[in-house]
Amino acid sequence: MEHVCNDGILTITLLKRIDSNNAPDVDKEIFSLIEECGAKSVILDAAETEYISSAGLRVVLKLKKTVEDSKIINASPEVYDIFSITGFIDIIEVKKAFREISVEGCEIIGKGGHGTVYRLNGDTILKLYSENEPLNEIEREIEYARNAFVAGIPTAIPFDVVKCNGSYGSVFELLNADTLGNVLAANPDKYDEYSKKYVALVNTLHTTEADTNRLSSIKDLYNKWADEMAELLSAEEIEILHEIINSVPDRNTFVHGDIHPNNVMVQDGELVFIDLADMTYGHPVFDYMGMALTHVIAGSRAPQRTVQIMGIDYEMGLRLWNDLVKTRFGSLGEEGMKQMNGLLTAFGMMKFTVASAVNKSTPKELKETLINVSRQTFFPNAKNLIGAVKF
Ligand SMILES: Nc1ncnc2c1ncn2[C@@H]1O[C@H](COP(=O)(O)OP(=O)(O)O)[C@@H](O)[C@H]1O
Ligand SMILES: [Mg+2]
Repeated sequence: MEHVCNDGILTITLLKRIDSNNAPDVDKEIFSLIEECGAKSVILDAAETEYISSAGLRVVLKLKKTVEDSKIINASPEVYDIFSITGFIDIIEVKKAFREISVEGCEIIGKGGHGTVYRLNGDTILKLYSENEPLNEIEREIEYARNAFVAGIPTAIPFDVVKCNGSYGSVFELLNADTLGNVLAANPDKYDEYSKKYVALVNTLHTTEADTNRLSSIKDLYNKWADEMAELLSAEEIEILHEIINSVPDRNTFVHGDIHPNNVMVQDGELVFIDLADMTYGHPVFDYMGMALTHVIAGSRAPQRTVQIMGIDYEMGLRLWNDLVKTRFGSLGEEGMKQMNGLLTAFGMMKFTVASAVNKSTPKELKETLINVSRQTFFPNAKNLIGAVKF
């Protein structure tokens, strides 16, 4: 069998067929290759494999018992089925081969920050990422979306990661829908109806418990971003960020990370989240700071930014934000709500401050300009945010 030994990692290309006729030879060969390589990790590449019988599975079992760090990659759907039906996927990691698909002749239905969205057929879409998007981040988006989907968050069914013209893409259920931004822009008379549904959708997300073993904590993510700002911020400024972040109460509920009307779709009058690439768990204030930024702060300097990000004009963005605050914090009374609005907007400026760590491709000069804005409007009162989240 073809094999490569690289620094204790042994990759073996499995045969077309492994059954009782050749299993003893395959067994012998695998274990002598492990000896030879001093393998600490074994990868069985099943790209050419069409069938594996029980005798073959026993070889895999013995391998896993001998070298714990073993896995199978590039399994065809048929081979994956064999591992799945026999329960072997609980014993050893089996990765399916990526399907190759073509988007020739497919209609483009959307463009976002991460890539282009194609309509594949009547049921599915492909989100095709740019070539330099790391595969693990693409797989992560599908994994996060699956987590949210099974927890009951309204979102499109996440299918699989596929290959297309040398890039990777994710296949999702086609929502027969338009973005909330477009729907609101075209039907301002329906504002009240959709504003209520939007607020309800956000609250559903923030009251649904996430699987904390499978998602990252939003506080960890913000702490990482704060550290990544070392080129632009002083050690003292970074320390203030850490203190604010760490003082926020812990929560186990979902945080979307990028809630705005263009990441929500309207299907048969119902609202559904899309774009779950930044899903984490933690306190909802982290979503509120993002919404303060997209719904209010971005457009307060240049109203056209609201239209670019959210598809609606600045006034409507502001109205949506006020409705969100009113529904969530109405019990605080007028004065309390006003204070809360100020607090959340200040937190929005914290997100603005770490944005250079989030958007790595921002040119250095622009980053410096943005940091100057933070130094004028955020840092002078930043210490007031330490321990300020009490909801
Ligand atoms: N499941 C879907 N069904 C229909 N259209 C979709 C779906 N997912 C995304 N789109 C369209 O593609 C656009 C970009 O998708 P999104 O996931 O927000 O990408 P990005 O991460 O690049 O912002 C959306 O605004 C929407 O118009
Ligand atoms: Mg988007």
